[in-house]
Amino acid sequence: MRTACRIAATVLDRLCRLVAPGVNTYDLDQEGRKLLGSYDARSACFGYQVGSKRFPAYTCLSVNDEIVHGIGTLKRVLQDGDIISVDVCVEYQGFIGDNARTVAVGDIAPARQKLLTVTEEALLKGIQQARPGNRVGAISNAVERAVRPFGYGIIRDFVGHGVGRSMHEAPQIPNFGPASRGERLRPGMTLAIEPMIAEGRSQVVMADDGWTALTVDGLPAAHFEHTVLVTGGDPEILTIPDSGI
Ligand code: MF3
Ligand code: CO
Repeated sequence: MRTACRIAATVLDRLCRLVAPGVNTYDLDQEGRKLLGSYDARSACFGYQVGSKRFPAYTCLSVNDEIVHGIGTLKRVLQDGDIISVDVCVEYQGFIGDNARTVAVGDIAPARQKLLTVTEEALLKGIQQARPGNRVGAISNAVERAVRPFGYGIIRDFVGHGVGRSMHEAPQIPNFGPASRGERLRPGMTLAIEPMIAEGRSQVVMADDGWTALTVDGLPAAHFEHTVLVTGGDPEILTIPDSGI
Protein backbone atom coordinates (compact mmCIF):
# COMPACT_ATOMS: atom_id res chain seq x y z
CA MET A 1 0.00 0.00 0.00
CA ARG A 2 2.80 2.40 0.83
CA THR A 3 4.49 1.92 -2.53
CA ALA A 4 1.25 2.00 -4.52
CA CYS A 5 0.26 5.23 -2.80
CA ARG A 6 3.66 6.83 -3.25
CA ILE A 7 3.51 6.08 -6.97
CA ALA A 8 -0.06 7.41 -7.20
CA ALA A 9 1.01 10.65 -5.51
CA THR A 10 4.11 11.07 -7.62
CA VAL A 11 2.20 10.59 -10.86
CA LEU A 12 -0.52 12.99 -9.68
CA ASP A 13 2.11 15.58 -8.84
CA ARG A 14 3.79 15.26 -12.22
CA LEU A 15 0.49 15.49 -14.11
CA CYS A 16 -0.55 18.59 -12.20
CA ARG A 17 2.70 20.25 -13.20
CA LEU A 18 1.84 19.66 -16.88
CA VAL A 19 -1.48 21.51 -16.55
CA ALA A 20 -1.39 24.76 -18.55
CA PRO A 21 -3.51 26.73 -21.02
CA GLY A 22 -3.42 25.04 -24.45
CA VAL A 23 -2.90 21.49 -23.13
CA ASN A 24 -5.62 19.02 -24.11
CA THR A 25 -6.90 16.44 -21.66
CA TYR A 26 -6.22 13.47 -23.97
CA ASP A 27 -2.49 14.24 -23.95
CA LEU A 28 -2.58 14.68 -20.18
CA ASP A 29 -4.19 11.26 -19.80
CA GLN A 30 -1.60 9.69 -22.11
CA GLU A 31 1.17 11.21 -19.99
CA GLY A 32 -0.50 9.55 -17.01
CA ARG A 33 -0.41 6.17 -18.77
CA LYS A 34 3.28 6.56 -19.60
CA LEU A 35 4.26 7.72 -16.11
CA LEU A 36 2.42 4.78 -14.52
CA GLY A 37 4.25 2.41 -16.84
CA SER A 38 7.59 3.93 -15.87
CA TYR A 39 6.90 2.91 -12.25
CA ASP A 40 5.77 -0.62 -13.26
CA ALA A 41 2.30 0.35 -12.09
CA ARG A 42 -0.96 0.35 -14.00
CA SER A 43 -4.08 2.46 -13.93
CA ALA A 44 -6.81 1.06 -11.70
CA CYS A 45 -9.28 3.22 -13.66
CA PHE A 46 -8.64 1.85 -17.16
CA GLY A 47 -11.17 -0.87 -17.83
CA TYR A 48 -12.84 -0.36 -14.43
CA GLN A 49 -16.23 -1.97 -14.83
CA VAL A 50 -19.58 -0.74 -13.56
CA GLY A 51 -22.41 -2.87 -14.94
CA SER A 52 -21.60 -3.38 -18.61
CA LYS A 53 -19.49 -0.25 -19.12
CA ARG A 54 -15.74 0.03 -18.75
CA PHE A 55 -13.85 3.24 -18.01
CA PRO A 56 -11.92 4.15 -21.19
CA ALA A 57 -9.11 6.34 -19.81
CA TYR A 58 -6.08 6.00 -17.52
CA THR A 59 -6.83 8.91 -15.23
CA CYS A 60 -9.95 10.93 -14.41
CA LEU A 61 -9.73 14.51 -15.68
CA SER A 62 -12.70 16.71 -14.75
CA VAL A 63 -12.82 20.34 -15.89
CA ASN A 64 -14.86 23.16 -14.26
CA ASP A 65 -18.45 21.89 -13.80
CA GLU A 66 -17.28 18.28 -14.22
CA ILE A 67 -17.12 16.89 -10.69
CA VAL A 68 -15.45 13.49 -11.09
CA HIS A 69 -14.73 10.68 -13.59
CA GLY A 70 -14.15 12.96 -16.58
CA ILE A 71 -12.55 11.37 -19.66
CA GLY A 72 -9.68 13.14 -21.41
CA THR A 73 -10.33 14.11 -25.04
CA LEU A 74 -8.34 15.87 -27.78
CA LYS A 75 -11.11 18.44 -28.08
CA ARG A 76 -10.92 19.53 -24.44
CA VAL A 77 -8.21 22.16 -24.56
CA LEU A 78 -7.54 23.76 -21.19
CA GLN A 79 -8.16 27.51 -21.07
CA ASP A 80 -6.74 30.17 -18.79
CA GLY A 81 -9.12 30.45 -15.83
CA ASP A 82 -10.28 26.80 -15.88
CA ILE A 83 -9.90 24.43 -12.97
CA ILE A 84 -9.14 20.75 -13.52
CA SER A 85 -9.49 17.85 -11.10
CA VAL A 86 -6.83 15.22 -11.69
CA ASP A 87 -7.58 11.80 -10.14
CA VAL A 88 -4.88 9.12 -10.23
CA CYS A 89 -5.73 5.63 -9.02
CA VAL A 90 -2.87 3.14 -9.27
CA GLU A 91 -2.46 -0.61 -8.96
CA TYR A 92 1.02 -1.76 -7.96
CA GLN A 93 1.74 -5.41 -7.12
CA GLY A 94 -1.89 -6.04 -6.23
CA PHE A 95 -2.45 -2.95 -4.09
CA ILE A 96 -4.28 0.28 -4.89
CA GLY A 97 -3.34 3.89 -4.18
CA ASP A 98 -5.93 6.58 -4.88
CA ASN A 99 -5.55 10.36 -4.85
CA ALA A 100 -6.85 13.49 -6.52
CA ARG A 101 -6.36 17.23 -6.59
CA THR A 102 -7.98 20.20 -8.32
CA VAL A 103 -5.57 22.73 -9.80
CA ALA A 104 -5.79 26.07 -11.55
CA VAL A 105 -5.15 26.51 -15.27
CA GLY A 106 -3.23 29.80 -15.47
CA ASP A 107 -4.94 32.55 -13.49
CA ILE A 108 -8.30 31.73 -11.91
CA ALA A 109 -11.01 33.91 -10.39
CA PRO A 110 -10.77 34.43 -6.61
CA ALA A 111 -14.08 32.60 -6.12
CA ARG A 112 -12.61 29.50 -7.74
CA GLN A 113 -9.42 29.71 -5.68
CA LYS A 114 -11.58 29.93 -2.57
CA LEU A 115 -13.45 26.76 -3.59
CA LEU A 116 -10.15 24.91 -4.00
CA THR A 117 -8.76 26.14 -0.70
CA VAL A 118 -11.90 25.26 1.26
CA THR A 119 -12.15 21.78 -0.30
CA GLU A 120 -8.51 20.96 0.43
CA GLU A 121 -8.90 22.27 3.97
CA ALA A 122 -12.01 20.10 4.41
CA LEU A 123 -10.01 17.04 3.28
CA LEU A 124 -7.31 17.78 5.88
CA LYS A 125 -9.95 18.27 8.58
CA GLY A 126 -11.51 14.93 7.65
CA ILE A 127 -8.14 13.17 7.67
CA GLN A 128 -7.46 14.43 11.20
CA GLN A 129 -10.46 12.39 12.40
CA ALA A 130 -9.15 9.12 10.93
CA ARG A 131 -8.06 7.69 14.27
CA PRO A 132 -8.98 4.68 16.40
CA GLY A 133 -11.97 5.19 18.65
CA ASN A 134 -13.69 7.40 16.10
CA ARG A 135 -16.34 6.14 13.74
CA VAL A 136 -16.34 6.73 9.99
CA GLY A 137 -18.88 9.49 10.63
CA ALA A 138 -16.27 11.55 12.46
CA ILE A 139 -14.51 12.02 9.12
CA SER A 140 -17.79 12.81 7.35
CA ASN A 141 -18.85 15.27 10.01
CA ALA A 142 -15.51 17.10 10.04
CA VAL A 143 -15.67 17.56 6.26
CA GLU A 144 -19.24 18.84 6.44
CA ARG A 145 -18.43 21.29 9.23
CA ALA A 146 -15.44 22.64 7.31
CA VAL A 147 -17.55 23.29 4.21
CA ARG A 148 -20.90 24.41 5.59
CA PRO A 149 -19.93 28.02 6.56
CA PHE A 150 -19.19 28.76 2.90
CA GLY A 151 -22.60 27.66 1.59
CA TYR A 152 -21.13 25.29 -0.97
CA GLY A 153 -22.91 22.17 -2.22
CA ILE A 154 -21.55 18.93 -0.77
CA ILE A 155 -21.79 16.21 -3.41
CA ARG A 156 -23.74 13.27 -1.98
CA ASP A 157 -23.88 10.95 -4.98
CA PHE A 158 -20.20 10.03 -4.62
CA VAL A 159 -18.35 9.15 -1.43
CA GLY A 160 -14.93 8.18 -0.12
CA HIS A 161 -14.16 4.53 0.47
CA GLY A 162 -11.93 1.90 1.95
CA VAL A 163 -9.11 1.01 -0.42
CA GLY A 164 -6.68 -1.92 -0.47
CA ARG A 165 -6.55 -4.85 -2.86
CA SER A 166 -9.60 -3.34 -4.56
CA MET A 167 -10.29 0.29 -5.43
CA HIS A 168 -13.65 0.48 -3.69
CA GLU A 169 -13.83 -1.44 -0.41
CA ALA A 170 -15.93 -0.96 2.71
CA PRO A 171 -16.58 1.34 4.43
CA GLN A 172 -18.22 4.08 2.40
CA ILE A 173 -17.15 7.51 3.64
CA PRO A 174 -19.78 10.21 2.93
CA ASN A 175 -18.75 13.86 3.12
CA PHE A 176 -21.64 14.74 5.43
CA GLY A 177 -23.54 13.33 8.39
CA PRO A 178 -23.28 12.75 12.13
CA ALA A 179 -20.02 11.70 13.81
CA SER A 180 -21.81 8.80 15.51
CA ARG A 181 -22.55 7.02 12.23
CA GLY A 182 -20.66 4.12 10.67
CA GLU A 183 -18.17 1.55 11.85
CA ARG A 184 -15.36 2.14 14.29
CA LEU A 185 -11.94 2.90 12.81
CA ARG A 186 -9.14 0.49 13.64
CA PRO A 187 -5.37 0.67 13.15
CA GLY A 188 -4.35 -0.79 9.79
CA MET A 189 -7.38 0.43 7.87
CA THR A 190 -6.57 2.31 4.66
CA LEU A 191 -9.17 4.87 3.60
CA ALA A 192 -9.62 7.07 0.52
CA ILE A 193 -11.05 10.30 1.89
CA GLU A 194 -12.32 12.55 -0.90
CA PRO A 195 -14.55 15.60 -0.50
CA MET A 196 -16.24 16.69 -3.74
CA ILE A 197 -17.57 20.22 -3.30
CA ALA A 198 -19.57 22.41 -5.69
CA GLU A 199 -19.65 26.20 -5.71
CA GLY A 200 -23.43 26.00 -6.21
CA ARG A 201 -25.96 23.23 -5.93
CA SER A 202 -24.99 19.68 -4.97
CA GLN A 203 -27.18 17.91 -7.54
CA VAL A 204 -25.36 15.80 -10.10
CA VAL A 205 -26.15 15.11 -13.75
CA MET A 206 -24.44 12.46 -15.86
CA ALA A 207 -22.89 13.24 -19.25
CA ASP A 208 -23.78 11.23 -22.35
CA ASP A 209 -20.47 9.35 -22.04
CA GLY A 210 -21.99 7.51 -19.07
CA TRP A 211 -19.12 8.40 -16.73
CA THR A 212 -18.61 12.13 -16.32
CA ALA A 213 -20.54 13.59 -13.40
CA LEU A 214 -21.44 17.28 -13.75
CA THR A 215 -23.03 19.90 -11.53
CA VAL A 216 -26.66 20.52 -12.46
CA ASP A 217 -26.23 24.32 -12.45
CA GLY A 218 -22.98 24.42 -14.43
CA LEU A 219 -21.02 25.96 -11.54
CA PRO A 220 -17.55 24.56 -10.86
CA ALA A 221 -16.69 21.75 -8.44
CA ALA A 222 -13.49 20.74 -6.66
CA HIS A 223 -12.16 17.33 -5.57
CA PHE A 224 -9.26 16.55 -3.24
CA GLU A 225 -8.40 13.00 -2.19
CA HIS A 226 -5.76 11.19 -0.16
CA THR A 227 -5.31 7.56 0.81
CA VAL A 228 -4.82 7.53 4.58
CA LEU A 229 -3.61 4.86 7.02
CA VAL A 230 -5.32 4.63 10.40
CA THR A 231 -2.54 4.06 12.97
CA GLY A 232 -2.58 3.70 16.75
CA GLY A 233 -2.22 7.48 16.94
CA ASP A 234 -2.14 10.22 14.31
CA PRO A 235 -3.39 9.36 10.82
CA GLU A 236 -0.72 8.87 8.18
CA ILE A 237 -1.26 10.21 4.67
CA LEU A 238 0.14 7.56 2.32
CA THR A 239 -0.27 9.50 -0.93
CA ILE A 240 2.79 11.69 -0.49
CA PRO A 241 4.94 12.08 -3.61
CA ASP A 242 8.53 10.93 -3.58
CA SER A 243 10.87 12.99 -5.70
CA GLY A 244 13.35 10.09 -5.53
CA ILE A 245 11.30 7.58 -7.55
N1 MF3 B 1 -10.67 7.86 -7.47
C1 MF3 B 1 -11.78 7.49 -8.27
C2 MF3 B 1 -12.87 6.90 -7.39
O1 MF3 B 1 -12.61 6.55 -6.27
C3 MF3 B 1 -11.34 6.56 -9.34
C4 MF3 B 1 -12.41 6.22 -10.29
S1 MF3 B 1 -11.85 5.27 -11.61
C5 MF3 B 1 -13.23 5.10 -12.60
O2 MF3 B 1 -14.01 6.80 -7.78
F1 MF3 B 1 -12.93 4.21 -13.45
F2 MF3 B 1 -14.28 4.73 -11.88
F3 MF3 B 1 -13.48 6.24 -13.13
CO1 CO C 1 -11.38 7.37 -4.69
